[in-house]
Amino acid sequence: MLEITDLRKVYEDGTVAVDGLCLSVKAGEIFVLLGANGAGKTSTIMLILGFTEPTAGCVTLNGVDVQKDPLTAKKHVAYVSENVTLYGNFTARQNLEFFTNLTGRTNVTEEEYRAAFLRVGLAENAFHRRVSGFSKGMRQRLGIAIAILKNSELIVLDEPTSGLDPKGGFEFLEIISQLKAEDKAILMSSHDIFRAKAIADRIGIMRNGQIIEILDKERIKTADLEKIYIECMKEITAGATSAKVQ
Ligand SMILES: Nc1ncnc2c1ncn2[C@@H]1O[C@H](COP(=O)(O)OP(=O)(O)OP(=O)(O)O)[C@@H](O)[C@H]1O
Ligand SMILES: [Mg+2]
Repeated sequence: MLEITDLRKVYEDGTVAVDGLCLSVKAGEIFVLLGANGAGKTSTIMLILGFTEPTAGCVTLNGVDVQKDPLTAKKHVAYVSENVTLYGNFTARQNLEFFTNLTGRTNVTEEEYRAAFLRVGLAENAFHRRVSGFSKGMRQRLGIAIAILKNSELIVLDEPTSGLDPKGGFEFLEIISQLKAEDKAILMSSHDIFRAKAIADRIGIMRNGQIIEILDKERIKTADLEKIYIECMKEITAGATSAKVQ
């Protein structure tokens, strides 16, 4: 579903944010990118979504090259950011319609809106309430309802559980697991080793724009993930941050 080949991103100031990254995520798989601040997770996600141009390498979604055919590629991916952008003065229902229309779907029935809303665990009586009064967890849920309505094969989430309380975080991951069961491919970034371990089929540990270690399900279950992560980060604590091209 998602194929990333030799992806590289050097920002204008010379920061190398993504450095020769290769990765594939299949339908029905949850891949979690773990990494410290500045490791390049968000930059990788921005490249997958076609929000920024790669310096080299390519991303394909269902075989469609994000750079060569961005409009078609974007149909295959839904995005949930850390702070979901919503209109506070609109109701949940109005936000669902507005953002779903933006994705190009205009034939959504009232029943579908309501079903997506309830599916993410939001209470029926909040459907017609203004989003300005929603908690962070409710906004995240609404963000994933919008992603569900887009009905794309790949869902990309950038730190979706950051700032959620433990129960909210747990429930959010349950929704992600259900989407996996529906054969969605899921790529998620996180700082949370505990939750990554609970949900991931594979975990990629990212440092300085590279995935330096990939753990499969078996290793995730048996290995001391925290220890592996700390080992991987050791060089950073020695003072290294993202490289710069001079
Ligand atoms: N627009 C930009 N221009 C220049 N440098 C940038 C830009 N965006 C990110 N960077 C740099 O690229 C590197 C990777 O940043 P990125 O935001 O991708 O990391 P991250 O893994 O998402 O970090 P975090 O966990 O803090 O969200 C960092 O050194 C960052 O300062
Ligand atoms: Mg980030």
